[in-house]
Amino acid sequence: MSEATRQVKVWDGWIRAFHWVLVLLVAAQYATAQLGLMDWHIRLGFTVLALVVFRLAWGLVGSDTARFARFLKSPLAALEHLKHLRRQEPDTEIGHNAAGGWMVLGLLGLLLAQVASGLFANEEPGESYGAHGPFALGISDSLSGQLTYAHELVFDLLLLAIALHVVAVLAYAVLKRHDLVRPMVTGLKRLPADLAAPRMGNPVLAAVLLAAAAAGAWWLSRQGG
Ligand code: HEM
Repeated sequence: MSEATRQVKVWDGWIRAFHWVLVLLVAAQYATAQLGLMDWHIRLGFTVLALVVFRLAWGLVGSDTARFARFLKSPLAALEHLKHLRRQEPDTEIGHNAAGGWMVLGLLGLLLAQVASGLFANEEPGESYGAHGPFALGISDSLSGQLTYAHELVFDLLLLAIALHVVAVLAYAVLKRHDLVRPMVTGLKRLPADLAAPRMGNPVLAAVLLAAAAAGAWWLSRQGG
């Protein structure tokens, strides 16, 4: 591999906007739950749902670096990657690395479990008059109580996963001197010049997918009463 490098666009604007809006939304979800602002908590929950559904669809038909088929490698490849975490070497990753791919899947899975359980959660299970997800009153109080418990448990798991995620990003900066944050902000990364740039997805398709995901989340929010 030659030592020449060039700036390559690795993350499209959709992924970057998804990421940083998600960070704000997760913080807002926490704050609204703590402050008892449940109407806002539920509204923002549907926004998270729309974003995650969009991201899952973009993972099938979006930019190369967004695609699950591109970045999901075997667990063995992920372990192999982690073995070299302390080795200082130039950053040649065009998108998520083999270990990061599993982290992304875990974060998206937890976010999906979070919003799915929220659809059935009830602030006051057993009394049916607290703030509640659209389908909470259509199931038994006991099941809604269990799903409310799951909703809280998954949030704790999500916080753990986020902490691990941020520690991993810091570890790359400290141990390998790889700055992963700047590319997630600007989209650009300095890579060896002989690496082919990833193909970016169709922005019209992205806008259509996002609009469809938002419409689906809005429709769900109107169900149940
Ligand atoms: C609520 C907190 C957070 C959540 C839920 C979250 C979630 C995610 C997800 C789902 C991805 C995958 C992006 C994609 O492919 O669509 C990702 C990537 C990334 N996140 Fe976060 N994130 C959070 C906070 C942060 C923070 C605070 C930082 C900065 C330190 C950060 C830095 C990054 C970076 C650099 C990547 C790309 C990693 C790579 O190069 O493979 N994240 N994050």
